[in-house]
Parts: sequence; structure tokens; C-alpha cells
Amino acid sequence: MADYILAIDQGTTSSRAIIFDKRGSIVATGQLEHEQIFPKAGWVEHDPMEIWRNTREVTGQALGKADLTRHDIAAVGITNQRETAVVWDKNTGEPVYNAIVWQDTRTQPIVDRLAADGGVERFKQDVGLPLATYFSGTKIVWILENVPGAREKAEAGDLLFGTTDCWVLWNLTGGTDGGVHATDVTNASRTLFMDLATLEWRDDILAAFGVPRSMMPAIKASSEVYGTVEPSSLLREVPVAGILGDQQAATFGQAAFDPGESKNTYGTGNFLIFNTGEEIVHSRNGLLTTLGYKLGDDKPHYALEGAIAVTGSLVQWVRDNLGLISNASEIEDLAKTVDDNGGAYFVPAFSGLFAPYWRPDARGALVGLTRYVHKGHIARAVLEATAFQTREVLDAVNADSGVDLTELKVDGGMIANNTLMQFQADILGVPVVRPVVAETTALGAAYAAGLAVGFWSSLDELRANWQEDSRWEPKMDPAERDRQLRLWKKAVTKTFDWVD
Ligand code: G3P
Repeated sequence: MADYILAIDQGTTSSRAIIFDKRGSIVATGQLEHEQIFPKAGWVEHDPMEIWRNTREVTGQALGKADLTRHDIAAVGITNQRETAVVWDKNTGEPVYNAIVWQDTRTQPIVDRLAADGGVERFKQDVGLPLATYFSGTKIVWILENVPGAREKAEAGDLLFGTTDCWVLWNLTGGTDGGVHATDVTNASRTLFMDLATLEWRDDILAAFGVPRSMMPAIKASSEVYGTVEPSSLLREVPVAGILGDQQAATFGQAAFDPGESKNTYGTGNFLIFNTGEEIVHSRNGLLTTLGYKLGDDKPHYALEGAIAVTGSLVQWVRDNLGLISNASEIEDLAKTVDDNGGAYFVPAFSGLFAPYWRPDARGALVGLTRYVHKGHIARAVLEATAFQTREVLDAVNADSGVDLTELKVDGGMIANNTLMQFQADILGVPVVRPVVAETTALGAAYAAGLAVGFWSSLDELRANWQEDSRWEPKMDPAERDRQLRLWKKAVTKTFDWVD
């Protein structure tokens, strides 16, 4: 058996290929960012062709850096930004429109139209999700209704839909020449169309949205062999054997396999996932019910999720739109020029507010300003926004599960920021813990692929790979924590009702 697994992480800002060894350590990484396309306020798109080109290129980069060939790779795993929708022509392999990204809010009128009959919770009991612009289903409808000729082609059976895992898998396994059109249960659970109990597409919901079933990929387990890589690729004939949406992949990579285990990922947004095992738990506190993972023919694991749309992307916005910093890591230095936020609170409701509020009418607000406030305080408020939003999601998880989490396992780009991690522990009142391999998203996809081909034999073997690297203990006085939270919650209310 070959000695390595290659994971493709098709994320919101970049595509990466990471090669892991048996211990779950990183051997080599390739990475390329892709363009973020903002055609109008609230619209966010990616070019699927650029994503596919980058995926191929980063795979070559990683193999080259490690001086490995396809013979060294036992399997490929895929993880991805989840709800981003691609619709393409199966005869030409060409997308009919750019990918509509999960953050995009253009489909609010479609949401309103569907919610007119039964409200936003119309399908929630069956699919675990409220009607919201976030999920891929409404994005497919937008493409069918707005791209000339798309509906006719879709009804003729010529168009395929997929989230970016599915787009990458289809291309990787041959594209127009026999590409596999499939996705896994975790990605399917983000469309609004998959029944949580049966793990099948719901014909009645597809009909309510007007989406032809022929567009939809086959729903597979998260860990099984979907196909092999096509002949022109550097990875030809290597099995593609794992797919997990990126947040579920990070949970898997954190070895949070059992009910009651959880993780919080700090990416462009933040996503806290709480494993509920084989039980489908419906939230009463603004969380989503979603698939955690499914290994081969085993029963699926479910999860509750607190999704926050804007955390790391607020730092990018401060860099790109305000020019306060020239690279993202400088936010910490700027924040460290002050001891506190100077009274300023920044609520980044750029895509409305996701969990636990689900307010599409919200828009961002920076409040509490006085002449005293300067850019250091704003940098601090930017970081604190991530921690406050996470605290509100953790409160929802605790309320839904009836058990208070005693620590928070973290991963993702922003955890390199010590100031944020300390403030996070302070505002949660529980320790925050980082593992040695912080690239848990790619690792989770590698684990899923490796399990399917026998590279790893059991979840216990994977658990043994998890090791603690750092721990931040809460230090803030509880009265001060309460005061800060009170002000934060007041700031959140200032963002409501901004959309006419
Ligand atoms: O639900 C959106 C999520 O999957 C995107 O994650 O890490 O690409 O921001 P990320």
C-alpha cells in the first residue's frame, strides 16, 4: 500500500492540496487563491473553471514539493466550501453561470416566495434547515430562472448541479468522459432537498422549488470509493474515496467522532459543530440540523451546527475595503496597540445574521463610537466580533443539548491569533484547545478517504493521532464578561431591519 493520502480542500478563498502520512502529519501543501467576484451588493461568485484549474495545479504543487507520484498516494479525499452552487452542461463540461457562493444573498426574493406558503421553517423538520439564501437550493432556482435557456436545458436533462466537491469529483473522474456525478451526505444536507432520515432527495421539495431531479447528483457516504482519477491526471487511477463538507471534515479531523464531541472552525466564517450521534436533534435555539458523517454502509452520524457567516472575512474586509492593514495577520498587532475595544462593537452582518438569529434583514454596524476610538480599537472590535458571535452559538448548543461544553476544540486560520484565542476563552468562560495538526479540514477528508481504502483501519487509530498543542484558560472577571456580552447583544439589535 502507498504511504500517503492526498486531500483536496476546495475552500471559499483558495483551493489546496495537502498530503498526509499515516500519523496524520502534513508532508506537503499546494495552495492557490481564486478570484472573489462581487458583481453587485450582496452577490458573491467564483469561476468554477478557475477553481478546477487551481485544483489540478495545487495537486501538482503538493506532489512536486514532496517528490511523490501517484504510486505513493493510496487515495484522494475531497472537502469543500459547502453550499456554493455550480450548474454545468454535462455535454460540454461548461458551467452555465459562475458558482453562486454560500455568502451570496441575491436569492432572498426566492426565499420569500417559498416562505409565503408555510414560513421559513416550512421544510425544517424534514431537512434540518430553514429557508435561507445560505443554502444551495435557492441558488439553483436563481440560475434556472435567470440564465437564458437554463430551464429548458435542465428540463431536457442536459444540466447538472453540484456543490464544489461534486464539481471537482466529476472533473477529476473524467468530466464529459464518464465523470462521476455524486456528492456525500454532508454536502447534500446543505441543499434544502435531502431528507435527514432517508438520506434521499425529496421529490416534493424539488418540485416546490422547480428543480428537475435529473440535475441532482447521487448521494453517497462520506467514506467510500466513488471512482478513480481520469487518465490525463498526475493522479491517474488513484481512487477518490472520501468527501466531507469542510465543517464536517474539520470535525472528523478533530476526531470528534462521538455524540457530545464538538469543534469550532475559524475560517471566512465560523462553524461550531456538535455531534449528536445517530440521533436527529432539532434545535430550538437557531442551530441547524445537519449530517456529521457516514462511513460506508454504517449508520449516519448527525450534528447540530452554529453557522456564523462573517468572521475571518471581516478581517479581509478591513484589509481590502478599508486598507487599515496590508495583510490579515497584522490585525493582531493593531489590536494589541490597545487594551480594550474603547467602547466600540462591530457586528459584521454583511450577509444578514446567521446563527442563532437568522435575520436576513440585518446589515453590518459599528457602534459605540466616540472621538476616543481609533483604529486600534476598531481592530480589537473586529477580533472580538468573532469571539462574541461564537459565544452566542455556544450558548445555543448548550441550551439545545442540555449539557454545558467544558472546553472548545478549535481550528482554522484565525486560531494563530493569540489575542483572539485568549479573548475567546475569556468571553466563553471555558478553555479553548488547539490540536497539533491544526489543518483539520483537509485531515478529515484524508481520514475519510484513508478509511475507505484500508489505509487506516479504525476510528481508534485516528483518535490516537489527535494531540493537544495549546490551551487558553479564561482569565476575565465574570462581571466584566457579563457587561461585555450585554453591550454586544445591544449592538446586535442595531443591525436589524436594514433591508427595505
Ligand atoms: O458553509 C460554508 C462553509 O462550508 C465555508 O467554509 O472554510 O470555506 O469559509 P470556509
